[in-house]
Amino acid sequence: MKPIKVGLLGLGTVGGGTANVLARNAAEIARRAGREIRVTHAATRDLNPDVNTDGIDVCDDAFAVVNNPDIDIIVELIGGYDPARQLVLQAIENGKHVVTANKALIAMHGNEIFEAAQKKGVMVAFEAGVAGGIPIIKALREGLAANQIEWLAGIINGTGNFILTEMRDKGRDFEDVLAEAQALGYAEADPTFDVEGIDAAHKLTILASIAFGVPLQFDKTYTEGISKISREDMNYAEQLGYRIKHLGVARKTDKGIELRVHPTLIPERRLIANVDGVMNAVLVQGDAVGPTLYYGAGAGAEPTASAVIADIIDVARTMTVDPDNRVPHLAFQPNELSDTPILPMDQIETAYYLRMQALDRPGVLAEVTQILGEQGISIEAMIQKEPAEGKSIASIIMLTQRVVEHQMNEAIRRIESLDVIDGDVTRIRLEQLDK
Ligand code: HSE
Repeated sequence: MKPIKVGLLGLGTVGGGTANVLARNAAEIARRAGREIRVTHAATRDLNPDVNTDGIDVCDDAFAVVNNPDIDIIVELIGGYDPARQLVLQAIENGKHVVTANKALIAMHGNEIFEAAQKKGVMVAFEAGVAGGIPIIKALREGLAANQIEWLAGIINGTGNFILTEMRDKGRDFEDVLAEAQALGYAEADPTFDVEGIDAAHKLTILASIAFGVPLQFDKTYTEGISKISREDMNYAEQLGYRIKHLGVARKTDKGIELRVHPTLIPERRLIANVDGVMNAVLVQGDAVGPTLYYGAGAGAEPTASAVIADIIDVARTMTVDPDNRVPHLAFQPNELSDTPILPMDQIETAYYLRMQALDRPGVLAEVTQILGEQGISIEAMIQKEPAEGKSIASIIMLTQRVVEHQMNEAIRRIESLDVIDGDVTRIRLEQLDK
C-alpha cells in the first residue's frame, strides 16, 4: 500500500517527540497501520537539533505544508488559537485529515471545526489534547459507548498536579516548582493556563461533550486555580483523611450538567488521590460499567506523541471508510447532540471544607453552627486549633455534607460578617467520588 504522507506543523516539545517516536518505531507502526506512515514535510520556526528530521522537508511556512497537495494528514502541534484555527480550517478545506493536540483550539472552536470537517468528509482527531498519553478520548468515545455516563472527575493538568505534589511532599514554594515544570516542558506557553485551571477547563469541556453528547461550551465551564492553596490547608486536609487535588468535574444531574474545575478535597484512600507529580488520571462513572479509572503521563514530549501517533494510525486505517460510518467527533451523531443546560456555579451541589479564624471566646462556635444550620448545612467533621501562645484567634476547620452552592455562599457571607470572625472564610469543595 502507498505510504501515508504526514505534514507536521510545529517541531517543539510535542512535534519533536512525534517525529522522534515515528522514526524510532516506524516498523512497528507500519505493522499496525498496514502501511508506512511517513512525515514528508514539517514547518517550524526554530529547529531543535535533538529532533530526527531525516527525510523530512523542513520549512518555516505552515500554510505551505497545509496547501501541499501530496500530504494526506496534517498534524497541528503549534498550539494556541491563531494561526492554528486558520491552519486547521484550511487543511479541512483542502480535504486533508487533521490530528491535533490543541485542546484550547478544540474547546473554543471545536464546534466550527467539526462542522467544517463533517461537510468535507474528513476526520479531526484530538486524543493528545486531553490527559497527554492516556487514551481517554478513545475510552469514552468507544470503549464506554454502551453506558450513560453519570459523572467524570479528572486530574487533567500535569503542571498543577506536579506543583501540588511537590508543595505537599517537599514543602517547596509554588513559584519554584512552577519554574521546574516550565523547564521540563510540561507547562503551557502561558503558565497561568495551568495554575488558574484554564488548561484543565479546556480538557474538561472536551471530555464533557464526549461523555454527555452536548456541544462544546468552554465559556460555561467554571474555573478556579490553585494559586491560593496553602500548606496549612493541605495539612488540615491530611489530618481529616483527605488530599487536595486540582480536579475537573463533569456531572449530569436532573437539572443540568455541572462543569467545574477547582481545588478539591478527595478521600486519601481513593486511587485518584494518590496520582502524583505530572501524572494525570480520569475517573469515569458509567451506569453499566460502574467506575473506571484511566492513569498515565499527562504531559511531556513522548507521552503526548504516543497519543498523536495513535490518532495518525487511526486516521490511516479509517480514511477509506464512508464518513457516515466513522466514530463521530463528539462521540454522538452530530444531529443528536442535546441542549441539556450547563448549570451556573451557584446551582451545583457539593460538600465543603471551611477554615475560619475566630476569636477564642465562649459561644463563637454556636454562632457559626447556627448559621450553617439555618442554611440547611450539616457538619460532617470539625477541628479547632487553640490560639498560638499570646494570641486570641483560633482556627476552626469544618467539613460539611453536600449542599447547593448558593446556600453555602449565603452561609459564608453571614459567617464573615460576624464580629467574632477575623478575615475571610477559606472554602474548598470536597468530593467523595464514590457515587
Ligand atoms: N500544560 C499541560 C499540563 C500540558 O501541564 O498538563 C499537557 O496538556
